[in-house]
Amino acid sequence: MSIALREVEMQDLPVFFRCQQDPQANYMAAFTAEDPNDWEAFSSHWRRILADPENVNKTIIQGQSVVGHIASFEMEGEREVSYWVDRAFWNRGIATAALKELLLLVTTRPLYARAAKDNLGSRRVLEKCGFVVTGEGSGYAHGRKAETEEYLFTLR
Ligand SMILES: CC(C)(COP(=O)(O)OP(=O)(O)OC[C@H]1O[C@@H](n2cnc3c(N)ncnc32)[C@H](O)[C@@H]1OP(=O)(O)O)[C@@H](O)C(=O)NCCC(=O)NCCS
Repeated sequence: MSIALREVEMQDLPVFFRCQQDPQANYMAAFTAEDPNDWEAFSSHWRRILADPENVNKTIIQGQSVVGHIASFEMEGEREVSYWVDRAFWNRGIATAALKELLLLVTTRPLYARAAKDNLGSRRVLEKCGFVVTGEGSGYAHGRKAETEEYLFTLR
């Protein structure tokens, strides 16, 4: 799978917003925005994260298309990764290729990630990139409006 990562441009945000609005993807990701249809909240969130130099945010490009985004950020002193791919492009190896590329740019180890226990696609992406399950937890997930169990993954 040939993809490229580039800096996020403002014109990418409507594509990311459309991805966030997808009910199936939103359920799968679980730990998402309170209201996936709130553009104001979405765009102010993106303005904030793009302004923080500690964050790495990349747009995933395949061919000429914006197909998703991938990020690395600090959460309570630990560096995590997360990603989101447009449902039209799922199961083509895009998230795996994007994460492999990101791991060349973000060299902090250990590196962490979280996935809802039933998010089998994301779990598989993490395992293909060398992450292993090192913990579990649960929290309220807006994408499901329910307490949801998750795994903590670590790349050493
Ligand atoms: C999770 C997500 C990023 C995966 O993106 P993707 O580009 O489809 O991922 P890839 O194609 O690189 O790999 C997906 C793997 O999961 C597997 N998979 C997908 N759905 C599956 C399922 N229901 N059961 C078992 N395996 C599954 C695929 O077969 C593939 O594994 P393989 O290469 O061994 O065949 C994408 O589904 C997404 O954006 N979901 C919504 C947002 C989200 O959940 N983000 C992660 C938050 S933790």
